[in-house]
Amino acid sequence: MSAPHRPISALAEQVGQTVTLKGWVYNTRYGKGLAFVEVRDGSGIVQVVVSEEEVSAEAWRAAQDATQESALEVVGTVVEDKRQTGGVEVRATDVTLVSLAEPYPITPKEHGVEFLMDRRHLWLRSRRQWAIARVRNRIIMSIHAYFQEDGFIQMDAPILTGNAVEGTSTLFELDYFDEPAYLTQSGQLHGEAMAMAHGKIYTFGPTFRAEKSKTRRHLTEFWMIEPEMAFHDLAMNMEVAEGLLQRIVRDALADCADELEILERDTSALEASTATPYPRLSYSEAVELLTSEKTQEMLRAEEADRQREKAELEEERDANAARYGQAKKGEKRRIDARRIEIDKRLAQIEEDLRNLPRWMESAASFEWGADFGGSDETVLTRHFDRPIIVHRYPAAVKAFYMKRDPEDDRLALGMDVLAPEGYGEIIGGGERATDLEFLREQVEAHGLPESAFDWYFDLRRYGSVPHAGFGLGLERTISWVCGLQHLREAIPFPRLIGRLHP
Ligand code: 4AD
Ligand code: MG
Repeated sequence: MSAPHRPISALAEQVGQTVTLKGWVYNTRYGKGLAFVEVRDGSGIVQVVVSEEEVSAEAWRAAQDATQESALEVVGTVVEDKRQTGGVEVRATDVTLVSLAEPYPITPKEHGVEFLMDRRHLWLRSRRQWAIARVRNRIIMSIHAYFQEDGFIQMDAPILTGNAVEGTSTLFELDYFDEPAYLTQSGQLHGEAMAMAHGKIYTFGPTFRAEKSKTRRHLTEFWMIEPEMAFHDLAMNMEVAEGLLQRIVRDALADCADELEILERDTSALEASTATPYPRLSYSEAVELLTSEKTQEMLRAEEADRQREKAELEEERDANAARYGQAKKGEKRRIDARRIEIDKRLAQIEEDLRNLPRWMESAASFEWGADFGGSDETVLTRHFDRPIIVHRYPAAVKAFYMKRDPEDDRLALGMDVLAPEGYGEIIGGGERATDLEFLREQVEAHGLPESAFDWYFDLRRYGSVPHAGFGLGLERTISWVCGLQHLREAIPFPRLIGRLHP
């Protein structure tokens, strides 16, 4: 009879005991009379040692046959081994194949991103993707906890809608029984209605943008969290946003240390974001900083840093190459591994060196009134070690529903939260316009059909109050916390231009 089946993540508490594992083969190595089978079960990975002398002929055969991603069951004893991940390994007493896998397309060697994206359904099993999915899960739970503990009610906004929220250029239109309908760009307007019923609500749902641009920051389907609060102004809105990000980063650092290590995330860069307040800059202050000599100096210094690092790395690479011929086997392996690291870093440096002059130029020539581009956001946040909140944007670059600044009618009481390390805008929001006539004018000025907004105007007819809210982009937040280059890895099955499968 087999022992109860336990997750690999719990093995460290079962040293000396007999356990049954059920999982898949991650990797195999063979020695004389020994098979080393790395088994993953979703909760973790453990090395299983199978000795020809200690198991039946069938079990030994199974260990020999077990191709990558074959499914198997192992019975064995848990043995402490500090050198192994998780601090244990399993000495098998029995191995049974559940199913033999065909040659697996994703091997431990490097693959191109498009190759991997075409096999996303399998790629999800790889260690990095596994780690990202777990951080995503942690972040989702932190978001719910943050709002639930503060009396917010979660509400589901409709996905099929009859009105645009964020402009008409990124709508997915469909035919809804002969009436035009859209996949929602944002649950905000319906969230506002719910906030008037419950005070404080948040949506947590999929949102859609027919983004024509292929950038690393845009998905066509992404998840957004949109709190909406009655009797809240812009300053209170900023506090809610800041507290949310602080909670997310704190929880991830506390609970996802292993995952962040697998992702090689520099966690010291995240530490600063656990402390508040986050700097607040008005748009005008941000423009002043962006166009300042201080910014040019910062970028010039960065360029000099990169040049210096590049020269050092190239020198190290050449020295290693010169030594390679005479090197012993172990050292050759070290040099090869270091070579991969150096090449990766050099490619990053080359990209920075291409970007920096463009950023300097774009920053210097930025004019008040324009919206910040991705590179402007990157440059601005380079001055800070944690997210910054930029507020009071020119009304012309913001959505129709924004309240105007009573001190300056050119400005909208909007805010964006920009993440550090070049991750850019992760939150957009603001205080909502409360005046019915003003909203009507804005709907018209934005070229939106008034009839589709009549229900929304009711919120201003019946008990209109100051209120505010924002939208947090889940995948952008995950990318920042995990240190990802591209949003496509932050969601199990990304939807992008040219990517609908798998
Ligand atoms: O700034 P956005 O467009 O704001 C709204 O939709 C408001 N209605 C939110 C509100 O006030 N309730 O989008 C909010 C956030 C962005 O800051 C970004 O993080 C994310 O949603 N986002 C995207 N993420 C991935 N792919 C895209 N194409 C995104 N567009 C926006
Ligand atoms: Mg925005």
